[in-house]
Amino acid sequence: MRIEVLFTPAEITEAAVKGKTVAVIDVLRACTTIAFALSRGCSSIVPVASVEAATSLVASLDRNVTLLGGEREGKRIDGFDLGNSPAEYTAEIVKRKTLVLATTNGTRAVSMSEGAREIVITSFVNMGSVVDHAAKLEDEDLTIVCAGKNNRFALEDAVCAGMVIERLCKDKEAELNDGAQAARGLYKQNEESITALLRECEHGRYLEGLGFARDLEICSRVDSLSILPLVKQGRIGRPRKPRKK
Ligand code: MLT
Repeated sequence: MRIEVLFTPAEITEAAVKGKTVAVIDVLRACTTIAFALSRGCSSIVPVASVEAATSLVASLDRNVTLLGGEREGKRIDGFDLGNSPAEYTAEIVKRKTLVLATTNGTRAVSMSEGAREIVITSFVNMGSVVDHAAKLEDEDLTIVCAGKNNRFALEDAVCAGMVIERLCKDKEAELNDGAQAARGLYKQNEESITALLRECEHGRYLEGLGFARDLEICSRVDSLSILPLVKQGRIGRPRKPRKK
């Protein structure tokens, strides 16, 4: 298996994602929020690249069973039902609903990876499910796309990519590109202190300033959700339980 890490969506090329399994990582917070919403009973999620795409899609759907969520600069968008805080996505609110989600970097990275055979939404909270799934890829390549921040490097996403690699390499021989080797090294430097990492990284400090300190703690709970969100044809359907090895 070959594992490649792209630290920003700006590095996505057709060759890097086409026909491959792509793990998209946005620890703070889109991928964590998606895992939360699904685990609380949301029936499907449509990640979209822009606010305009979200509002026009929602206009064609039954509003009684559809939620519009997302953020700009970390804050809920005017007229949207929900922001991008995982804590907002309670069972009471999301159960049996379709969620259309537009976030600045996370859902955009998902849209930009659309040539992939399969997109796996990845964060610390559902790490175990993602790694179990990726471990079954046999000879297939895995491309890990870090959503980053405004097309720039984000430490928390790189460390999360490194954790995927570290766990996968325990059981598998893998060829790593330079990005994957660097991500693994960053993970090793931070493995004992994921919560502190999320508090200290740039976007974590920004979110704390907005009053979202609790989100940082939620997003740092490694393996707290057993959920495998797969994007197929632009939609994340009802998640299936991860297959056992
Ligand atoms: C994003 O997609 O840029 C993020 O998830 C931003 C956030 O809400 O923290």
